[in-house]
Amino acid sequence: MKTFRSDFLWGGATAANQYEGGWDEDGKGPSVADMCTNGSHTSPKRITASFEEGVLYPSREATDFYHHYEEDIRLFAEMGFKCFRLSIAWTRIFPTGMEEEPNEAGLAFYDKVFDQCKKYKIEPLVTISHYEMPYALVEKYNGWESRECIDCFLNYCKVIFDRYQNKVTYWLTFNEINTGTMPMGSVLSLGTVKGYTGTMIGFPDKPQVRFQALHHQFVASAKAVKLAHEQYPQFLMGNMIAFITSYPFTCNPDDMLEAQKKMQMNNWFCSDVQVRGAYPFYAERYFEENHIHISMEPEDEQILKEGTVDFYTFSYYMSNCVAKAPDEKDKIGGNLIGGLKNPYLKASDWGWQIDPKGLRYTLNEIYDRYRIPMMVVENGLGAYDKEGEDGIVHDTYRIDYLREHIKQMKEAVADGVDLMGYTPWGCIDLVSASTGEMAKRYGFIFVDKYDDGTGTLARKKKESFGWYQKVIASNGEDLE
Ligand code: BG6
Repeated sequence: MKTFRSDFLWGGATAANQYEGGWDEDGKGPSVADMCTNGSHTSPKRITASFEEGVLYPSREATDFYHHYEEDIRLFAEMGFKCFRLSIAWTRIFPTGMEEEPNEAGLAFYDKVFDQCKKYKIEPLVTISHYEMPYALVEKYNGWESRECIDCFLNYCKVIFDRYQNKVTYWLTFNEINTGTMPMGSVLSLGTVKGYTGTMIGFPDKPQVRFQALHHQFVASAKAVKLAHEQYPQFLMGNMIAFITSYPFTCNPDDMLEAQKKMQMNNWFCSDVQVRGAYPFYAERYFEENHIHISMEPEDEQILKEGTVDFYTFSYYMSNCVAKAPDEKDKIGGNLIGGLKNPYLKASDWGWQIDPKGLRYTLNEIYDRYRIPMMVVENGLGAYDKEGEDGIVHDTYRIDYLREHIKQMKEAVADGVDLMGYTPWGCIDLVSASTGEMAKRYGFIFVDKYDDGTGTLARKKKESFGWYQKVIASNGEDLE
């Protein structure tokens, strides 16, 4: 029976906007994430149109990778990481996104990071854009609503491809590009929030703007992939999808159709474009019914066709249920969109339903559809961690979560799925994307940083650190 390949990319995942800090150091400009306040499970974070005095902006310092990268990568190496997923902050390279020349200090920072990875034979997996559009592009163009952003993005890609061509092989264009199919995507990834001050959830949704902006991201992504394939044949280019597996709430055919529709528009739509190179057949009816008209340039179809990715990556945290006529009492939250409670599953403290077998199901579904190598680049349990009397966080609940998911990945590999690697999310504590809080922790490494912005930023291994070290050393055989 097949098991994990010998060169399986075990590692961990982070993103600059939630981890790096140093938001205004060495010439970096503000990004959308730098304009977001803190929040909590019950009180949503806000985006502000200008900085407000006395308000906490958690991404500004985050957990300070900027000044801790040497120590952190050393710890990742101690865990045995083969791969480290990080994002480059666009605004560190082009502070407004529109400069002619890049910011050398920003480029130099990632040189040091990649050199440190190389020292430990850790393969960087770089997300080019992870929820961190330059805020200046929001102010000038209303973010990705404007086609101008495609060129700005391409300039950025040209610079980083050229600079890091001998240091980075694996690239992902846009993190969770499919958030653009959901209202929350306007703030998180599309930057179509010019002048808006308010909560992320309350942002007045405009599907026409959202899907036009998403089209521009598709073209930008395809152009970046095409450029890489033409000039840097050693690069491997991937997409990245937030996969939110939807089950029908009952076997009522109406619920079945509802689930199929959700799977199409939330999960498959973007990767059909990025992997197959064209808008899927079901888009036409969706656009018609939702009064969406995508304006395209004549060359766009060809660009999409030529810019298809080499591998498919996704985040997987949970699954949910959907129904044609949902009952309020069955509702539950979740990653990016809520859903209905599944009576067979338990949920995290944030209401995300824990479903390891759903990961095996999902891996099979994706591989069956696309038949290209895949990677799980985010997975994990956001939980309240507390130090025990011995000063160590005994996060056995996190170990249980990860163990069960790894078991199911192994099953999927035995099923025949071509899986390249696994990078659990927030391998070191960082700021939550949805709530802006520190209390929702994912890491194998605890960072002394709290919701009120205080903390020494000291790093400490949790119990899961040693456990994951054994998992990697045994290539996924020793899960106890
Ligand atoms: C994914 C994002 O949606 O989920 C990450 O790519 C995010 O940026 C992660 O942090 C976990 O979500 P949250 O809201 O718990 O931070």
